[in-house]
Amino acid sequence: MCGIVGYVGERKAQDVLLKGLSRLEYRGYDSAGIAVLEARKINLIKRQGKLRILANVLKAGPAKGTVGIGHTRWATHGVPNDVNAHPHADCTGKIAIVHNGIIENYLDLKASLIKEGHKFRSKTDTEIIAHLIEKYYKGNLEQAVLKTVKLLKGSYAIAAIHANEPDKVVGARCDSPLIVGLGKGENFLASDVPAVLDYTKDVLYPDNHEIITITKTGAIVKNYTGRVVSKRPSRIKWDIKQAEKAGYEHFMLKEIYEQGDIVGGILDERLHDGKVLFEELNINQGAFKHFKKIVIVACGTAYHAGLTGKYMLEEYTHIPCWVDTSSEFRYRDPIVDKETLVIIISQSGETADSLAALREAKRKGARTLGICNVVGSSIAREADGVIYTHAGPEIAVASTKAYTAQLAILYLLTLYLARLKKTLPPSRISYLIKEFRKAPSLMEELLNEHKSEYNNIAAYAGEFKKYYHEKHNKSYFLYLGRNINYPNALEGALKLKEISYISAEGYPAGEMKHGPIALIDENPWVVCIVTQSKTYDKMLSNIQEIKARGGIVIAITTEGDKEILHHNVNYLIEVPKIDELFSPLLVVIPLQLLAYYVAKEFGYDIDQPRNLAKSVTVE
Ligand code: G6P
Repeated sequence: MCGIVGYVGERKAQDVLLKGLSRLEYRGYDSAGIAVLEARKINLIKRQGKLRILANVLKAGPAKGTVGIGHTRWATHGVPNDVNAHPHADCTGKIAIVHNGIIENYLDLKASLIKEGHKFRSKTDTEIIAHLIEKYYKGNLEQAVLKTVKLLKGSYAIAAIHANEPDKVVGARCDSPLIVGLGKGENFLASDVPAVLDYTKDVLYPDNHEIITITKTGAIVKNYTGRVVSKRPSRIKWDIKQAEKAGYEHFMLKEIYEQGDIVGGILDERLHDGKVLFEELNINQGAFKHFKKIVIVACGTAYHAGLTGKYMLEEYTHIPCWVDTSSEFRYRDPIVDKETLVIIISQSGETADSLAALREAKRKGARTLGICNVVGSSIAREADGVIYTHAGPEIAVASTKAYTAQLAILYLLTLYLARLKKTLPPSRISYLIKEFRKAPSLMEELLNEHKSEYNNIAAYAGEFKKYYHEKHNKSYFLYLGRNINYPNALEGALKLKEISYISAEGYPAGEMKHGPIALIDENPWVVCIVTQSKTYDKMLSNIQEIKARGGIVIAITTEGDKEILHHNVNYLIEVPKIDELFSPLLVVIPLQLLAYYVAKEFGYDIDQPRNLAKSVTVE
């Protein structure tokens, strides 16, 4: 997935590149490197490991130039080591490039280049780009890059420099994100906005198959026929402070704590006089009335938000809805047509499978709606309509605030459609809006006023670790929920395995007897979501069945629930009372915190878990 940065200006490129890469480290962090132009030579420094290792090397021997490129890697082709780290150079060492994406035809291109005498150093797909630019370079880097990218199959965002043209960086993109930061006397290329926000809030969003040349004085965007494309700059509305830890030990914790505020902000922005407004929607109300089916497509946490969406949309709008992971949807000839609304949920708006699913849905004639967090991202731009979650930058790899923001938008969309299709009486809609409005302060209350409760979660995590070692590392987690909180069981399990590497499975509690119950002995810790709901009694029976077989139960209950006290659960976590429909917004918070504290107990790198990346821009 990787992050790339390019800089041309007056500042020390090394500093700008390192700062930019630190803002992109969420995209990959197994190695990092920079290449800086110095006196018509390229100074290329790269190291396996986290960015701080590279930063230490550069502290000891700084690069001096003011033009350069940088990269933080998530390995696809070639193990993470110094040689496979980017930037990659050509045979002469005069060209350096960085790349995010996968070049699918690299083996063929590599074979031809080797025949022509090019010498390769790495095992990456990327290195061929440097050698192709070398092959086509006739005194004009932009032209050479243009000839090169036309041969590439797959996905890429690249940035290239040439020692003979020390005043510029040339970039190009196809299916991987690339933005241009516009400064005064300096310009930037980057995979994502946070990398440039320390210097400018004005950005351009190049489209696929566009090539960009930045110099100190400007940025020129051309399409692959060489014609200049005029782009209007967008002004970024949020502040770089939002991408900083602000005193929290980890981004994940900070992002968990932001959730009440974010959901409150979404309600303030979208609810006016009891009506839901989606200004950027771009799909008219008439069209909305006629959709016969809704299909939600997403990956990871966004998929779990989609699963929750199904419960609310079907119940309150009476439109049949199914949910698919993007990687399945895109390859299985899904039945969608012009009477289908396909909703793609994606925090980054760049997930490769979700983007491909969106294109497949469009190809089949469906209307498409993106629910995205990153403004100007590919999914946001390519979908017929978009609703932004405006949750601010999410830096921790494990998604938290994007999830609750996606849920909030799905609730609003449900209410919007219910009003439009008259599937709920106005009085019921007013009641639900009133309940929804309680959610932000209850989320805040959960996180702040009930701090002691949350110290309990930290304590439970400590006890789990002890137990885990006593049971010779055989303990693991099961998460059970029903109905609208079943997706939260999946999300709780996902959070835990993502950051603490402990086996965790989410299940609809009613399915327990069809498999998971065979696992129950004294090893698993079973998190049961047993808040007030129409399936409350069923959940209590499940708890009994687990206890009877020696399982350890953590029950998430509604404040004031006395009944649960008779069920001998091992640990209790209370959440405030709210209409069942909105309970997922509250229930997920202790699940996120439990994962966080378990990972902390085990001493893992919470914000940058092994093998994962925040934005999965390759298949
Ligand atoms: C990765 C991230 C997850 C995220 C998923 C989908 O797996 O680690 O946190 O939920 O991608 O990402 P998206 O940007 O499409 O929501």
